[in-house]
Amino acid sequence: MSYLKKHPTGKMKYSQTEIKKIMKNEKYPLSSRYDPDWIIENAMGAHTLWLQESLTREMNLKPDMRVLDLGCGRAISSIFLAKEFGVKVWAADLWNSATDNWSRIRETDVCDSVCPIHADVHDLPFSENYFDALVSINSFYFYVTDGEFLREKIFKYVKPGGKIGVIVPSFFNDYQDGYPEAYQPYVEPYNLNGWRTYNWWKDLFEQSGLVDIILADNIDGNEGNELFQKTACIYNIHETPFHIAGWKDITYSRIIARRKKDTPQQTKQ
Ligand SMILES: C[S@@+](CC[C@H](N)C(=O)[O-])C[C@H]1O[C@@H](n2cnc3c(N)ncnc32)[C@H](O)[C@@H]1O
Repeated sequence: MSYLKKHPTGKMKYSQTEIKKIMKNEKYPLSSRYDPDWIIENAMGAHTLWLQESLTREMNLKPDMRVLDLGCGRAISSIFLAKEFGVKVWAADLWNSATDNWSRIRETDVCDSVCPIHADVHDLPFSENYFDALVSINSFYFYVTDGEFLREKIFKYVKPGGKIGVIVPSFFNDYQDGYPEAYQPYVEPYNLNGWRTYNWWKDLFEQSGLVDIILADNIDGNEGNELFQKTACIYNIHETPFHIAGWKDITYSRIIARRKKDTPQQTKQ
């Protein structure tokens, strides 16, 4: 099913009623309980609660676990984690200030469970082996360079045996030999060089030497692609490179891993 308005100029818009209908997605029952206006107001490109729900249904989070939400954006995915799983969340982000995120967190009934932190992944202010789990939605593709980066800058903060779950936008097939012409003007604005495949990410995770892969896939087959299309409708965006290319080749990938138990506690600074 295509959710796209036919008109290519962006002049046709979805009505509020249509948007609310699209947002009531029965595949994401937990997310459906949240105010659609709040989700849209605090969005940074995706419906982050759908993605967080898709990821965490595979992660077995338990009450009181310490969870790092890395690149949490406006922290609504962090609030979701605390509300739905009773976990303690460190909501870390670079582009959004801790004060702004705290103002959102304070409006919820989980303000004792979510701690906003302004932080750069290149220098995170945490103890090694501290977190029971780490999640990250639509953020790794901005900064992760290789397996060593994962090991030295991110994974070491998760305790041995802890879980790491990541969602990134990606292609069904890697454009190793260059992008289609329609994509060329968008490579930089959309950071398309960071859009790879779940297998590419799986290899990178393994190269870190610190984790075993539990799951690496595209969200439920074609569901990731459909989420992109639905999200474009929700935000009434009708002109993107993906509209031009017909939406065939993009999806969201999930990678879930467990930190190995027998890795050294101390990694290099
Ligand atoms: C597309 S937004 C996604 C935000 C949020 N996870 C969501 O789904 O709404 C990417 C996020 O990555 C964060 N980010 C980018 N570079 C970062 C860095 N060097 N350190 C920490 N966070 C970073 C940005 O602050 C931004 O909020």
